[in-house]
Amino acid sequence: MKEYEISACVKVFTQEELDSADAELIEAAKQATETSYSPYSHFQVGAALRMESGEIIIGSNQENASYPVACCAERTALFWAGANRKDEVVKAIAIAAKSKGEFTSGVTGPCGICRQALIEVEHRQKRPIRLLLYSRDGIHVTSSVGCIVPFSFYSENMM
Ligand code: THU
Repeated sequence: MKEYEISACVKVFTQEELDSADAELIEAAKQATETSYSPYSHFQVGAALRMESGEIIIGSNQENASYPVACCAERTALFWAGANRKDEVVKAIAIAAKSKGEFTSGVTGPCGICRQALIEVEHRQKRPIRLLLYSRDGIHVTSSVGCIVPFSFYSENMM
């Protein structure tokens, strides 16, 4: 039997400790919660991508009376970038969420489907996507999405 551990380095910043680029991205994700269409869950999620050009692209969760049709904030932003900024590198993603009108505390990470969507972009572009998770208690940051997706599934797994 062999045993090994999987670990991830997470840095937790206060708002004041963020550099200006990260602070701007967090602000964009917080703002994006305002465009959420979430009459069913009342959970407003905002995501903001920092592209290599410096451009910020936002997304928010978009729900539907047929619940499974909904699209999360992260994929709304990611797929918009794929469709409109083809082959541009995504450098970072910031995520913020509001429940009952208040930003969440603790850590609100991307759902499993969004992790899978993010990891494919990271893998395809061969460049890490910095992940910033906003909460009232601090901003949790990892240097790549891969840090929170151990044993990721890639197309190579099917070969
Ligand atoms: N949601 C996101 O937008 N991102 C996530 O990573 C988790 C969940 C949305 C989907 C749905 O509109 C609402 O939050 C409740 O699940």
